[in-house]
Amino acid sequence: MSDQISDSEKVKSTFDSYAKKFDAIYEPSERKTTFDRWIDTKFRKSMYLRFEKTLNSIDTKEVQSVLDIGCGSGRYAVQFLKIDKSVTGIDMAEEMIKLAEQTCQQEFPTGNTKFICDNYFEHPFNEKFDAAVLMGVFDYIEDPARLLNKAKNETNKMILGSFPKSEGFLNSIRKIRYFLKGCPLYYHSKEALDNMLRSCGFKNYQILDNDREYFVKINL
Ligand SMILES: C[S@@+](CC[C@H](N)C(=O)[O-])C[C@H]1O[C@@H](n2cnc3c(N)ncnc32)[C@H](O)[C@@H]1O
Repeated sequence: MSDQISDSEKVKSTFDSYAKKFDAIYEPSERKTTFDRWIDTKFRKSMYLRFEKTLNSIDTKEVQSVLDIGCGSGRYAVQFLKIDKSVTGIDMAEEMIKLAEQTCQQEFPTGNTKFICDNYFEHPFNEKFDAAVLMGVFDYIEDPARLLNKAKNETNKMILGSFPKSEGFLNSIRKIRYFLKGCPLYYHSKEALDNMLRSCGFKNYQILDNDREYFVKINL
C-alpha cells in the first residue's frame, strides 16, 4: 500500500512538471518545429490514433455524460464538450487540472464541465456516468483491475482505455526513460489484458491493436 502511495506521488510530480510540454503535443502541426513533427510521426502515432478512436466511440446518442479519468490538460474534455457531452474530469496533477480548466473555459465556455484535482482511487463518486475514458492512464497504474472495478461501479454503458504493449523496441526505450525519471511505468501483453478483463467480470469487450498500445472498449 505504501508503495502504491509513493508511486502516485511520483506520477503526480512527473505530470505536474511536464504539464505544459505534454499539452503542447496536441498543438496543430503547423505550429510545431520540424523536429517535433518528426517526433510525432515516429513516436506518437498511437496517441493520435487513440484520440480519434475515443471521439468516434463517445460520439453516440447513448453517451451523454463522460467521466474523464486522468484527464490531463483537458484536450479530450474540450472535444467531448463540442459534441454536446457533459464532462467530469479528474486528475491528481494540479498543473494538468489548471490547463484543463483554462482550455475548456477558452474554447467552450458554455460547456457543462467539472474538474477535480484528486487521486481517482481516493475519490468516491456518488453519481454514475454513461462513459468512462482512461487514456494514457494505465501506463502508471500497478493494479489495473482495481482501477477498472472502481470505474465499472461508476459507469453505465462504456469504458474506454489504452494499455501500452509490453513488446517493441520503442517501448523498451521508453521504459528506460521513465526509470531515469523515477516514474513507474507498466506494460501489458494481450493475453494478460484479456485475463484481467475477464477476471473483472467483463464479457463484452474488444482489445484493438493501436500501434504501440492496445485500445480497449468495454460495453457494460
Ligand atoms: C499521459 S497523461 C494523459 C492525459 C489525458 N488523458 C490525455 O490523454 O491527454 C496521464 C494523466 O493521468 C493522471 N493520473 C495517473 N494516475 C492517476 C490517478 N490515480 N488519479 C488521477 N489521475 C491520475 C496523471 O496525473 C496524468 O495527468
